[in-house]
Amino acid sequence: MSFLSSPPRTRIIDVGPRDGLQNEAQAVPAAVKVELVQRLQAAGFKEIEVTSYVSPKWVPQMADNHAVMSGIARQAGVRYSVLTPNLKGFEAAVLDRPDEIVVFGAASEAFSQKNINCSMAESIERFAPVVEAARAAGIAVRGAMSCTVGCPYEGDIPPERVRQLAGLMKGIGVQRVDVADTIGVGTPLKVQRALEAALVHFDINHVSGHFHDTYGQALSNTLAALHMGVWNFQSSVAGLGGCPYAKGATGNVASEDLVFMLHGMGIETGIDLDALIDAGIWIGEQLGRPSASRVARAVLAKRKG
Ligand code: HMG
Ligand code: MG
Repeated sequence: MSFLSSPPRTRIIDVGPRDGLQNEAQAVPAAVKVELVQRLQAAGFKEIEVTSYVSPKWVPQMADNHAVMSGIARQAGVRYSVLTPNLKGFEAAVLDRPDEIVVFGAASEAFSQKNINCSMAESIERFAPVVEAARAAGIAVRGAMSCTVGCPYEGDIPPERVRQLAGLMKGIGVQRVDVADTIGVGTPLKVQRALEAALVHFDINHVSGHFHDTYGQALSNTLAALHMGVWNFQSSVAGLGGCPYAKGATGNVASEDLVFMLHGMGIETGIDLDALIDAGIWIGEQLGRPSASRVARAVLAKRKG
């Protein structure tokens, strides 16, 4: 596929309220998280990853999941997703009526142990009843696959492991998967191989790119994914975030930077870039630091200029 024949549109999930804020050391009030979600939906996002139903001992920042989910004024046509690692998490989540739940595994044995305290095989055993219960309740199911190119503990991850994990996810009824570069070490060809491995089990409409930008490669990796026809992506307003169990890993690619690139290529996102930039500036003010988005900084300088 040439760049001229890149997908005409993309679907972006802003994962800032969850992936972004889960890693904040300072407590972020639930009201701020609720307002962030509202600003993102006002900017045009049709999918927002809101929170996680995980152990508050492991990730204290997500302990207010119920307050956040019940505080949002939901907009019709927006899909609100939440992370659920096990049945306990699902049972709590279901009371808050998410549109989609996310089970999250890893293509690395060591990362699986550090992140969710079980082996890859055990994680699939735990996810299976969660997926079954969600599907029975009419809730969509996504599977996040961490460390699909590199792991902070094991180093390079071969695509074969991604293929295996994607197959296991498919086998238990997961409907779509995220190919995550958790620590942002991926470069375009490696990311393409990881995506290809997921595409053995899921079609092009059900594989998304979730690229952290630690090494500044996320936009290049997005371009490589677009080149394969991938059109689903995840990004984080203001480039917030990182995983608490991936030390040193920074946030996802900033939504502002992703949207700017896509619009520049003539690819539709449905997002109002100015409203998104304002949402990023606003959350930066709440957290007491400037946006990590290069586009937001450039636009801000121009506005002041
Ligand atoms: P565990 O300690 O093995 O669980 O944790 P357990 O079943 O042995 O239970 C121990 C205690 O945790 C018990 O409480 C349970 O009730 C409680 P106690 O009796 O000690 O008071 N517990 C829970 N509480 C609330 N919600 C739950 C829950 N489950 C058990 N769902 C567990 C296993 C998975 C819970 C734990 O390891 C955990 O919470 N991990 C959090 C991992 C996480 O949130 N990581 C960040 C998100 S993943 C990510 O960022 C990557 C992604 O962005 C993609 C990418 O970039 O790679 C998605
Ligand atoms: Mg992530």
